[in-house]
Amino acid sequence: MIYQSLILQCALLFVERGEWNMASIWQNNKLLRKWEIKHFKQNANGDFNYNLAFPLEDPLVNAISNYINVKKDYIYVGAGISQFINAIVGLTIWDNVILPDIEFSLYKRTAFLNNKKVIFVKGIHTEEFIKNLKKIKTSNKDLLCISSPRWFNGEMFTKKQIKNILDIFKGTLVIDEAYIDYSDNENGLLDICLKNDRVIIFRSFSKKFLASGYRTGYMVTIKNIDGLRNTIIPPHSVTSYSENFFVSLLNDNKILKAFVDTREYIKSNRNLIYDSLKNLKGIEIIKSDANFISIIFNDSELMNKVYDNLNDLAGIQKFDEIVLFIKIWVNNEKFSQEIIKRVKEIIQ
Ligand SMILES: Cc1ncc(COP(=O)(O)O)c(C=O)c1O
Repeated sequence: MIYQSLILQCALLFVERGEWNMASIWQNNKLLRKWEIKHFKQNANGDFNYNLAFPLEDPLVNAISNYINVKKDYIYVGAGISQFINAIVGLTIWDNVILPDIEFSLYKRTAFLNNKKVIFVKGIHTEEFIKNLKKIKTSNKDLLCISSPRWFNGEMFTKKQIKNILDIFKGTLVIDEAYIDYSDNENGLLDICLKNDRVIIFRSFSKKFLASGYRTGYMVTIKNIDGLRNTIIPPHSVTSYSENFFVSLLNDNKILKAFVDTREYIKSNRNLIYDSLKNLKGIEIIKSDANFISIIFNDSELMNKVYDNLNDLAGIQKFDEIVLFIKIWVNNEKFSQEIIKRVKEIIQ
């Protein structure tokens, strides 16, 4: 199969210890490299105009609308999820901003920068988080932000859990689906979002197309927030180049398919790490639906030993606030095998 070889080309390659550098899939995959160059030439046409008068005519809003089959009125395009975090968390309409105590740090930073009252909810597992959320009294003026798959360990909230959250929590719920394409359900919680005006979904092309530098994402909600489209999230936040780039990409089935295959490849290498390490003593590893997998520790000495044995590899991060864990950004099979071998060198 042609795509099989594309996947292998896209693999992020490195060989011996000390040489584990990461190159982007856009650099390693010949099909993508060729497509990007062709696209660049087509778009170098000197047209730098940008018309803000009709945001709903924005070609990227239209392309996303076709792609996810959602009315364009419910879609907002912005400079990555980061811009939506700023726009939504920063709104003056919230009394409290409720966050998991372990979450993508921009939520906390933005809430504090905007002098919000923040309530943190504990929970390593989604069930534990929901149990703790139940203890909080909330109102329709509160905002709760969660990621699913979770930023911390890639665990997904199920539909049933989200419905449960919407019963016990009275306010507006942001679901950050930055990693949704690495799960087995790329529609995520879209259907709940389209039926309930208390739900806002964030999506990003940073992870979906491994193109974070193009700063593009979108938000879906049927909620009506006064002036949101025109004053808070004008489409000019995304450059015309990024806009054109993703419009072309979303209309190119061959490239979309190459990404589906790439993500499947990453998923199988992620599951390989999970299956090989899940029974080791002294660590906890939760099944991830993201393009990373986290190893959780009780003991900082053990974590530091494992980290020291891994940290010359690309894509290894250590976190020691609230929960002790090492996050591993997954790529090719060779990388997964190396991770497994090195973790087992420390933990039998
Ligand atoms: C959960 C989560 N949300 C949002 C972002 C940022 O996404 P974007 O590049 O679209 O701003 C990240 C990036 O790491 C993330 O992990």
